[in-house]
Amino acid sequence: MRFYLVVITWAVIVSCQVPEQPRQMIERTSFGMLPEGEEVERFQLRNTAGVEASIITYGATLTALSVPDRDGIMEDVVLGHETLTGYLEDNPYFGSIVGRYANRIAEGAFTLDGEIYTLARNNGPNHLHGGVKGFDKVNWEVAEVIEDTNQVGLSLNYVSADGEEGYPGMLTVRVTYLLTEDNRLIVDYEAITDKATPVNLTQHAYFNLAGQGSIEGHHLTLAASHYTPVDSTLIPTGEIFPVEGTAFDFRSGKTIGEHIDHDDQQLMYGGGYDHNFVLDRMSGDLMPAATVLEPQSGRILEVHTTKPGIQFYTGNFLDGSITGKGGVQYGRRSGFCLETQYYPDSPNQPNFPSTILRPGKVYQTQTVFVFRTEE
Ligand code: BGC
Repeated sequence: MRFYLVVITWAVIVSCQVPEQPRQMIERTSFGMLPEGEEVERFQLRNTAGVEASIITYGATLTALSVPDRDGIMEDVVLGHETLTGYLEDNPYFGSIVGRYANRIAEGAFTLDGEIYTLARNNGPNHLHGGVKGFDKVNWEVAEVIEDTNQVGLSLNYVSADGEEGYPGMLTVRVTYLLTEDNRLIVDYEAITDKATPVNLTQHAYFNLAGQGSIEGHHLTLAASHYTPVDSTLIPTGEIFPVEGTAFDFRSGKTIGEHIDHDDQQLMYGGGYDHNFVLDRMSGDLMPAATVLEPQSGRILEVHTTKPGIQFYTGNFLDGSITGKGGVQYGRRSGFCLETQYYPDSPNQPNFPSTILRPGKVYQTQTVFVFRTEE
């Protein structure tokens, strides 16, 4: 009897002392209804370390991303909204998947195989981020929920009709998000078409590794010796300029704010950085493109990609008029974007890498956001 009592007491003590092992998981809930009556779902992906990424089907949007600082304190490091209404109202592509063509196409027109295609001019004289109703404003279909030993995630599909927003061909797109046990958020893009069409897909997360305030103190390194200068409407001039000796040189790393307000015509056009950097790549393999360190928290973000360029945008057009998560008013430069991409306006720029996808070919790119901390 005594022996049994000892065993039971021991078992109770042990079960109280050993905290339940956290494990990776996916939580699937409703995020609200679209005005047309369609449900938007939210998937919260969590790994054993407690890193959590939330993705909603509307715009295949990354709505939250919590990562630890050097003391293990979690912070949501992406800008966004708490409710669906926020995303339906004035939303500057917070965390969205952008397509069919990310960034600008000059004067909303291009010629392909001898035919002229006309697109919406939704950004001054130009076409921006796929038009009036781009891929950020459609409800994606859940294709697969993934739970492997070392990663959790989901695949979302969207079929863009032939002629949608003026683009030729029916484009079938799949985006897969994977959160790994080693704190990587992998974004895989795939697309096929039935007619030749330009394709350029990106993830438009606005990061702030401190969780709030200006991003000007973040330290950025970019693996780019060149960038594509723009005109006053932010359309590339077609030239490929060396960054050497300019405010655009982030090769050895510096704070985002160091040269952002320099007397430089290019910076004035964007109100800060809003430019495509040409990555120093030797092949189409996954390569480290950017590293950002937030010195106070020690949080580090690395961006790896298979794509040839990266749009570095410093949230210059945020002006405090949007209130996001936690009632925070997002002010100018309170988030930065590192949008991996093909160069803007490529359909009109013969010397840029081609973005034309043809039937029988597969558009396949990958971007990986790695989170770690400075020791
Ligand atoms: C563009 C900016 C634009 C922002 C939000 C970025 O990708 O480069 O010019 O203001 O997206 O639309």
